[in-house]
Amino acid sequence: MKLFDVYPINDIIITKAKGSRVWDNNDNEYMDLYGGHAVISIGHTHPHWVNRIETQLNKIAFYSNSIKIPIQEELASKLGEVSGKKNFDLFLCNSGAEANENALKLASFHTNRKKIIAFKKGFHGRTSLAVAATDNPSIVAPVNETNNIVFLPFNDSDSLSDYFKLHGIEIAAVIVEGIQGVGGINVASNEFLLTIRNLCDQYGAVYIADSVQCGYGRSGKFFSHDDAGVDADIYSMAKGMGNGFPIGGIIISPIFKAKHSMLGTTFGGNHLACAAALAVLEVIESESLMQNAEMIGKYLQDELKSISTLSGTRGRGLMIGFDVPESHKNLKKDLLFKYRIFTGEAKPNVIRLLPSLGLSLEDASLFISTLKQAIAEYQP
Ligand SMILES: Cc1ncc(COP(=O)(O)O)c(C=O)c1O
Repeated sequence: MKLFDVYPINDIIITKAKGSRVWDNNDNEYMDLYGGHAVISIGHTHPHWVNRIETQLNKIAFYSNSIKIPIQEELASKLGEVSGKKNFDLFLCNSGAEANENALKLASFHTNRKKIIAFKKGFHGRTSLAVAATDNPSIVAPVNETNNIVFLPFNDSDSLSDYFKLHGIEIAAVIVEGIQGVGGINVASNEFLLTIRNLCDQYGAVYIADSVQCGYGRSGKFFSHDDAGVDADIYSMAKGMGNGFPIGGIIISPIFKAKHSMLGTTFGGNHLACAAALAVLEVIESESLMQNAEMIGKYLQDELKSISTLSGTRGRGLMIGFDVPESHKNLKKDLLFKYRIFTGEAKPNVIRLLPSLGLSLEDASLFISTLKQAIAEYQP
């Protein structure tokens, strides 16, 4: 059997990882400013995370949601504390798409409505409804097509208000990334998020904050939506939640009433995943990683803005994007293969930085000097 060939793959085998560094099978060291696509939140193989998982593994890894699993309650309580959303409830699942699928489903159950507003360049996952709410027709299969989703322009409060005026009573939910990730690092304005909040309140729709990529401290706040001073009704989470251990979830405001069997999953909330997720929150807190993300992010943005070849530097905390000119379109590949630095990309010609929230000032500054060198030596 061979692998189903769906991923464009770099010819690199990573065999070891620590903090913001990874090593290949020839023992070459790389700086990781991609975090395996925003997944590495507290740093690769963080000792506290390894220890929590190992300890849990030696006790019990999994049992189904048919019994009491106290570590789930421990996780909910810690998450309430660190995120500040103490009065929200937690539902655990396994990935970002699944989190959004459950968020959308819950919104529809709650409102008894079908229509969802999503935004241009938004990405919400690849499962049925999540992919239908994703603005990329090439990944939507015919079976996923539905006219229950409408795409409106991002950061355009007037279009949104106009749409609500005409169709407000049909809308179950608005789903929005606080910072669009796959779409190229586009920050939702505070005014736009406030408008979403107000319109959802006015028309009885549910505000879903897709925080799968921009959440969990990445923006410098626990949820990037916190910057606007609004509470969403549901936050979806995954990526940074387990630092590489697969876990996702939604937190749900007290306006929703739970009913047995309305949501469910076999693996969601298993003992091992909860141990990993607890370790992440403990480290975010003990190492002040949100503050670090804010500080190092500001340093990186200031430095990037001073490099004249680059333009459009944007983002918050350690979720940063910048545009490279068409003449430098191989820069990301050069950074990886010549200078051994992993970065992310978005089309067209956007480089994304999604490092561990523990990235040091020393590494950030090493990246900037290497980037300047790579640009100076650039051979198209
Ligand atoms: C904002 C956002 N939502 C949802 C997803 C889907 O997450 P997963 O790949 O874990 O299903 C992603 C993945 O990139 C994402 O960036």
